[in-house]
Amino acid sequence: CGIVGYVGHRDAYPIIIKGLQRLEYRGYDSAGIVLFDGENTHLSKTKGKVEDLKKKAEATISTEGKLGLGHTRWATHGVPNDVNSHPHYSNSGDLVIIHNGIIENYDAIKKALITRGYTFESDTDTEVLVNLIEEVKKKEGVKLGKAVQIALNQVVGAYAIAVFDKNKPDEIVVAKLGSPLAIGIGENEYFIASDASPFIEFTNNAVYLEDEEMAVIRIGKEIKLRKIKDDAIAYPNILELQLNLEEIEKGGYDHFMLKEIYEQPRAILDTYRGRLLADQGIIRMAGIDQNLEKFLNANRIIIVACGTSWHAGLVAEYIFEDLARIPVEVEYASEFRYRNPVITENDVLIAISQSGETADTLAAIKLAKERGAFVFGVCNVVGSSIARETHAGAYTHAGPEIGVASTKAFTTQITVLTLIALKLANEKGVFSKSRFHEFLTELEAIPSKVEKALLSNEIVEQISEIYKDSTNCLYLGRGYNFPVALEGALKLKEISYIHAEGYPAAEMKHGPIALIDEQMPVIVIATKKGHYEKVVSNIQEIKSRSGRIIAIVTEGDKTVKELADHVIEVPETSESLTPLLTTIPLQLLSYHIAVMRGCNVDQPRNLAKSVTVE
Ligand code: G6P
Repeated sequence: CGIVGYVGHRDAYPIIIKGLQRLEYRGYDSAGIVLFDGENTHLSKTKGKVEDLKKKAEATISTEGKLGLGHTRWATHGVPNDVNSHPHYSNSGDLVIIHNGIIENYDAIKKALITRGYTFESDTDTEVLVNLIEEVKKKEGVKLGKAVQIALNQVVGAYAIAVFDKNKPDEIVVAKLGSPLAIGIGENEYFIASDASPFIEFTNNAVYLEDEEMAVIRIGKEIKLRKIKDDAIAYPNILELQLNLEEIEKGGYDHFMLKEIYEQPRAILDTYRGRLLADQGIIRMAGIDQNLEKFLNANRIIIVACGTSWHAGLVAEYIFEDLARIPVEVEYASEFRYRNPVITENDVLIAISQSGETADTLAAIKLAKERGAFVFGVCNVVGSSIARETHAGAYTHAGPEIGVASTKAFTTQITVLTLIALKLANEKGVFSKSRFHEFLTELEAIPSKVEKALLSNEIVEQISEIYKDSTNCLYLGRGYNFPVALEGALKLKEISYIHAEGYPAAEMKHGPIALIDEQMPVIVIATKKGHYEKVVSNIQEIKSRSGRIIAIVTEGDKTVKELADHVIEVPETSESLTPLLTTIPLQLLSYHIAVMRGCNVDQPRNLAKSVTVE
């Protein structure tokens, strides 16, 4: 879900529509826009995509005006339909709001407002908020900014909001708690958005609101920030953006996902550039160097994350334990935060998040900090909430990831975590000099090996054609490649809507083996190093039950070739680095199957890129 707003001297409509399209990657199910043309507001909203909104708005409303707000909604309260889409009017029709997040106590407020005569068209918590603001404004006789502040002090939840009053059309009030909100500053104009991509061609100057901050944005005036709770003045930190417009467009590929899959050699290189100095035999990472003692003295490392980032955490568990000999636990952020975990000052928590905005991961960080742990972030989005909330961190430098299904974020997360593990292993003296050096050289060779793994695209496409109509799929791997099996299965279900499960290969006989018949494609990661013989036995077990075997093997493999229906080769590398290669054909497999099934690859149904609600 995303928000875009504009107030200034240009036509707001094209800026907002284009901005909403840039934010499409965040995932949504409906969209809406409101414009003020100098006299009246014009509102249009619809279930569906921004393209649907564009058609509807151009056919039904005046698209003139220098002030406007736009929104893409990912349903939390109330089904995705036209009425529940944002923007929402207040009862008088004077105030209009857009909102990302959840107001948790909306039901109680709604009931109270109903007893005082307010009526509601939608099922949303947002319509409750705009009417609460209106009631406060009337009752207290205060300006919009003050009314927003008083109302927000009565709500519990998370939000990024933008509101305006059609009687004061040079002003937008914004506020943030939990969901991101950036303000772009132009000459006599302001932009508002969930991230800077909607306004990057207009201005490089932006302010990111912190949690519990609000701002009154008025043409001709400087931005004034205030703390929502105690009204204290906050000083805006105006950043100069370095986002490149080309980077956020498709660059010749049919889909962002495919572009991002193919970007991985470069993305991985960017991740270790300046950090991995193989010829000097060192790894340099400021966030680790400055906090080395914390890591070396840690009782254990706890990794928290969600989705694909959680899978990167699982790979990291193998790397940290195997190479650096530090105990690791990997937790779903959503479970960790609510189960009263035992955390001590000697624990190091690593939070992994592509967007840096995932609500559960953010909450887990806050909890760990309260309990005294040292918190380190691995994020892709620079300046994101998680990047700001952690004590230290390392960016993945993958560049913007637009496809909802995470690809290059995953491999670059693994790269960063590998660098950290190698560095700690070296500092602890676990490695001999020559072994450390071997690892560095091997990691340096990964981008060119990923290039080679990408050559499997053609054969993967042929395999996809055969299995595109499957209803179930099983992914198996062991050791370092067990999390890769989970990730492969997640990719397939996310974008092609085929039910898929990832399993440790040996666990298959404790359940999933019952599912295997001649209809069932089983994808097995069977690379040379890492329990190869054992995986071969697992393949034999599948074969004797007539399962269809697609095996990911090391270049030149002969044994598996004889057993499997199809083999996909990846180059040889150290066991701990194989996930960076075996992941590639699995990403391509899910991509091609989804395309062949006619699915919306970049914006799969019901999913959001950045989940800023818990
Ligand atoms: C959503 C996305 C996933 C992502 C997960 C965690 O579910 O659709 O692709 O892995 O959130 O997001 P994060 O930004 O924290 O890595």
